[in-house]
Amino acid sequence: MADAEKPRTPLLDELEKGPWPSFVTEMKKAAAKKGSAADLLRQLERSYENKRGHWKHGGIVGVKGYGGGVIGRYSDSPEEFPNVAEFHTFRINQPSGWFYTTEALRKLCDVWEKYGSGLTNFHGATGDIILLGAPTANLQPCFDELSDAGFDLGGSGSALRTPSACCGPARCEFACFDTLDLCHELTMAFQDQLHRPMWPYKFKIKISGCGNDCVAAVGRADFSVIGTWRDTIQIDQEAVQEYAGAGMDIRAVCEGCPTKAITWDEQKRQLSVNADECVRCMHCINQMPKALRPGRERGAAILVGGKAPIVHSPLMSWVIVPFIKVEPPYTEIKELLLKIWEWWDENAKTRERLGELIIRKGMRNFLKAVGLKPVPQMVHHPRANPFYFWDPEEVDLPKQALPEEVTS
Ligand code: HEM
Ligand code: HEM
Ligand code: SF4
Ligand code: SF4
Repeated sequence: MADAEKPRTPLLDELEKGPWPSFVTEMKKAAAKKGSAADLLRQLERSYENKRGHWKHGGIVGVKGYGGGVIGRYSDSPEEFPNVAEFHTFRINQPSGWFYTTEALRKLCDVWEKYGSGLTNFHGATGDIILLGAPTANLQPCFDELSDAGFDLGGSGSALRTPSACCGPARCEFACFDTLDLCHELTMAFQDQLHRPMWPYKFKIKISGCGNDCVAAVGRADFSVIGTWRDTIQIDQEAVQEYAGAGMDIRAVCEGCPTKAITWDEQKRQLSVNADECVRCMHCINQMPKALRPGRERGAAILVGGKAPIVHSPLMSWVIVPFIKVEPPYTEIKELLLKIWEWWDENAKTRERLGELIIRKGMRNFLKAVGLKPVPQMVHHPRANPFYFWDPEEVDLPKQALPEEVTS
């Protein structure tokens, strides 16, 4: 029940003054119905007054059979804000590509109004539906109803986090494979890894249908699958000429190519692409979508090691598989993931992400462990030192050229 008195929030009210939608306005609407939303406003106003957070982490909360998916939060001033004394968050696994029926959305909101604060975050940074704030006693019945409606928890803690994918072929002409299906398949195949935290730290899988990388996999996923093609960009020369006729500066588009792989012959009015030089960055295709499209031989590149800063600096992921066909049942991708997890789990320190472990142990060790051969596309940046190392078995030298102790 809502408290009789409306929360007084002069500082938060400032955040309602812009022309944009305000989360404060939405929280006030919820506060009219829910005591927890009202106390949330009061506690947040307090945080703005004294410039510090008032949430305590910790304590194991959850639902039966799951090791994660619910994140425990407690107020540090439960006497003053009793309705948010326990204010736990559900992470709910979003459908691939974030497609819903209105019926599913209504159901989700009804369940959340019944058991929680009514406040949601569609969607969290990981991709999950975030349901903010329920007391401990409501967790199990709330989950049971969500589960009956076909929803499941997402990942949290040192587990596989909910995989996410761009909308891919459902809405986008650039998709080089079915991102939605791969995301769904991996989620279903790795339920154990998702719901039972047992690793050194979190692990994120993100899937983009092309190099535009709409789920920002490269900057944050431990394992990125990003659409690409092996042959040459398809060019419709007539459509290029139409762009030129309509005043587009085709030369400027070519100048934006990072490898100068695309050239425009002004006289012949012909565009050509050198497939060997093209790095499939999507720039020219984005500029002239009617005239250019990805090649016909489509698949994906697999990259590893992206992350935001915690232990080390942020890392962008780097290529370990330049091209792979992406077709159900995705056996190769699943097997590669299992090998990566085995090596990481065995070698990582607590809270060490895959990218950090590769830097510490060396790419060479990583590649050996997962059974990949080094190829030039893996080069992340130019070498910074003049030394290199090899194992005797890797070089084809006559036996006598090696020292005794190495060969014996
Ligand atoms: C006239 C003198 C020099 C010339 C013409 C020269 C030329 C070069 C060239 C062409 C490279 C290869 C660059 C690459 O592969 O990207 C190189 C690498 C290197 N040079 Fe020199 N160098 C000179 C002097 C020096 C000196 C005096 C030092 C050290 C005190 C040095 C240290 C190195 C190192 C450490 C590398 C490896 C860099 C890397 O692998 O990224 N060089 N040098
Ligand atoms: C007291 C003096 C020095 C100490 C204690 C020292 C220490 C080290 C250490 C611990 C490493 C890392 C080794 C590894 O990662 O395997 C290293 C690498 C290196 N040092 Fe030194 N160093 C010293 C002097 C020098 C000098 C005078 C030079 C050059 C003129 C030099 C050039 C290098 C280079 C090029 C590397 C990179 C090697 C690689 O990446 O494999 N060092 N040094
Ligand atoms: S990543 Fe590529 S395929 Fe996916 S939505 Fe973005 S542009 Fe389309
Ligand atoms: S996709 Fe990128 S690298 Fe390839 S030709 Fe176009 S602009 Fe150049």
